[in-house]
Amino acid sequence: MRFAEARALLEKHGQEHLLEFYPSLDRSRQRALLRHIDAIDFHLMTRLIDQWVLHEPPPEEFSRIEPVPLIPKASANPHAAEAIEAGEEALRQGRVGLFLVAGGQGTRLGFAGPKGAYPIGPVSSKSLFEFHAEKIHNLQARYGCTLPWYIMTSEANHDDTRRFFSQNGHFGLDPANIMFFNQRMVPCVDMRGKFMLSAPDRLASNPNGHGGCIPALVETGALQDARNRGVDMFSYFQVDNWAVKVADPYFIGIHVQRGAEMSSKNHRKNHARESVGVHCLCDGVYHVIEYTELDLYPQLLETKSNGTPLHAAGNPAIHILSAGFIERVYNDYDHFPWHRAHKKIPYVDRNGKLVEPNAPNGYKFETFVFDALRFIRHEPVAVEIERPGEYTPIKEYDGDNSVLAAWRCMNEYWAEWLEAAGSPVPRDANGNVTIKLEISPQFALTKEEFIQKARPRGAGKKWPTHHHLAIGPHGQLINQ
Ligand code: UTP
Repeated sequence: MRFAEARALLEKHGQEHLLEFYPSLDRSRQRALLRHIDAIDFHLMTRLIDQWVLHEPPPEEFSRIEPVPLIPKASANPHAAEAIEAGEEALRQGRVGLFLVAGGQGTRLGFAGPKGAYPIGPVSSKSLFEFHAEKIHNLQARYGCTLPWYIMTSEANHDDTRRFFSQNGHFGLDPANIMFFNQRMVPCVDMRGKFMLSAPDRLASNPNGHGGCIPALVETGALQDARNRGVDMFSYFQVDNWAVKVADPYFIGIHVQRGAEMSSKNHRKNHARESVGVHCLCDGVYHVIEYTELDLYPQLLETKSNGTPLHAAGNPAIHILSAGFIERVYNDYDHFPWHRAHKKIPYVDRNGKLVEPNAPNGYKFETFVFDALRFIRHEPVAVEIERPGEYTPIKEYDGDNSVLAAWRCMNEYWAEWLEAAGSPVPRDANGNVTIKLEISPQFALTKEEFIQKARPRGAGKKWPTHHHLAIGPHGQLINQ
């Protein structure tokens, strides 16, 4: 794109301020700025600014909102064994790919680097990526299969993510089975709907939300790669859910048995205002209403007589997506709703100096993967799960969905495994575990597996729980 073209286009859309620094830039930075301007989807942005910034869009209207019917968790389902068998068969046949979305900016955690590089191991300081990789090692060994791992990144963290994996030897996984690919970016706007610059030659922009995984899978060739390997379904998970059970056989099995297009796990909400999206049936169609939009639908905040939420199905963002469904829903992506978030967006001032605002100063726009639910043609699948051992989202360091909360939850979870395997764990007067615990998911993914593998240590041989304890991938003690 040439300067004159860029200026004409920007003037037409009232965005010519983007060229403010152009005359002072050297040639390569001028070219970079023109490239950014050329990449803007003006058709989309005009619509978003008009609908979401210049006007307050009316919420989607539903005449009926009902709780979703949930398939019971494995421990409460008399047919669980058949479902698990079906899931295990799909794994053995190599039909399952892993799909990790890791393109987010992780602003609330404020960690310098990709969120997946966060050293979550309470004793070992192993990263989130390493924990997920160890789960893959376990499953590949158990089912004698290859689980190709598709990792969606964004401009903001693609290079750092790839570097982190290669610096860590891809955590022992074969790099030929790991594919990184980028999602698209969307410009941010200020409160008047004007684009912003994050540097004199660069637009302030954000990744287009986890819903951006649909076009990204198709357009980068990741889906085709999976198809070529015989994969026909993806186990979708998010990088910041440390505990997530990737490629859970029970969940896969139910998806397979029902011929589902998209399946979702659900956990019981603790209280009506909890910061988690709510799965519900809106006029008979599956939806997730984000917690930021709960006030638009007061019935979602209603409680039963015992005080528990009427709409209790929280969305932990764990799905199975069939390859055929992704191919089809790709054609519907233009009809996905966009969501607006009011955020602190760093920008350059008139002197070209970067300003880090201390209050929200603009909007970013995103699409969400769960908005694919409305395009499902077969009956969707919603499965209940227990939160411990499945859902520990890490959004901040402290608070509800935080590093500290995840550590507490996993400490208690792993303490039960140790106790069940005959190694008492020290607890205080309130019953809280007083040491830090960590068990590699490569060594054991479930309590049953842990007990079985722990037994060869011999009768009377206990794990040394007098001090912090980390059990490594091969059952070895680490970082004592
Ligand atoms: P969140 O919506 O919690 O965002 O992402 P975030 O980027 O991790 O954190 P904040 O909001 O900036 O603090 C949930 C999951 O979706 C992925 C994230 O990487 C995380 O795994 N995600 C989010 C993407 O892959 N792309 C996006 O555009 C947004």
